[in-house]
Amino acid sequence: MTTSVKVSVLTENNAGELTAAEHGLSYLIESDGTRILFDTGQSDLFLKNAAIMGVNLEGIDMIVLSHGHYDHGNGLEYLSGGTLLCHPGCFIRRYRGSDHSYIGLKISREELAGKFNLITSRVPYIITESIVFAGEIPRITPFESQITSFVLEDGTPDFVSDDSALIITLPQGLFIITGCGHAGVVNTIEHAMSVTGVERIYGIMGGFHLKEDHRQTDETIKYLKNAKPVHIRPSHCTSGAALARFRTAFDARPIKTGDILSF
Ligand SMILES: [Fe+2]
Repeated sequence: MTTSVKVSVLTENNAGELTAAEHGLSYLIESDGTRILFDTGQSDLFLKNAAIMGVNLEGIDMIVLSHGHYDHGNGLEYLSGGTLLCHPGCFIRRYRGSDHSYIGLKISREELAGKFNLITSRVPYIITESIVFAGEIPRITPFESQITSFVLEDGTPDFVSDDSALIITLPQGLFIITGCGHAGVVNTIEHAMSVTGVERIYGIMGGFHLKEDHRQTDETIKYLKNAKPVHIRPSHCTSGAALARFRTAFDARPIKTGDILSF
């Protein structure tokens, strides 16, 4: 079994000393001898930052798209070849409820299937013995995924059912990587435990989609205090107010582009 995870932060909302930022997320995740590009941000910034960081994206084993939002998948325009894995719901047309601006993927399913070996999975998909794509995450807690600011083409609410995560099983417990956390961090952890049968949480990292200091933030912190992961690294779409709470509760340091983190 693999014993560690290395995450190179290619795109993130906070800039590093040498690397720029954008609203988006892209991590290169290395574990178990496998290299996975998890999301691509909204532009070619992930490629520019990878070059600055000396991170070689040649020969990656797979691209995983966490969900079908522009800030996670529009960078796919700048890649081709290899395997792309995601939930089949990533390709729908979707909008902000406030101004009806488009926030889905710029690239169609057909275009992506032409560029990549496209694999879609609504159920958990085993990538290696220790790495699983979570598939669709059941929404079970009463405090997550209760409201949404997004709508579908017909105006009905979009709860981003395609939102998924990567689950890595280490001897220390599960290391879970979220894209935007639309499903909710606690729902994601509960799903990861049920998929793997492992109940110990070693780490959680990625977008937590906590927009303010409110009940969901309170409940998530309470849950994590109980679950006691060693590593808690909220990033990307976690608001300043929520990040401040995590900093107080767990001394969770901010993530920046250019970071190469080992867990
Ligand atoms: Fe996002």
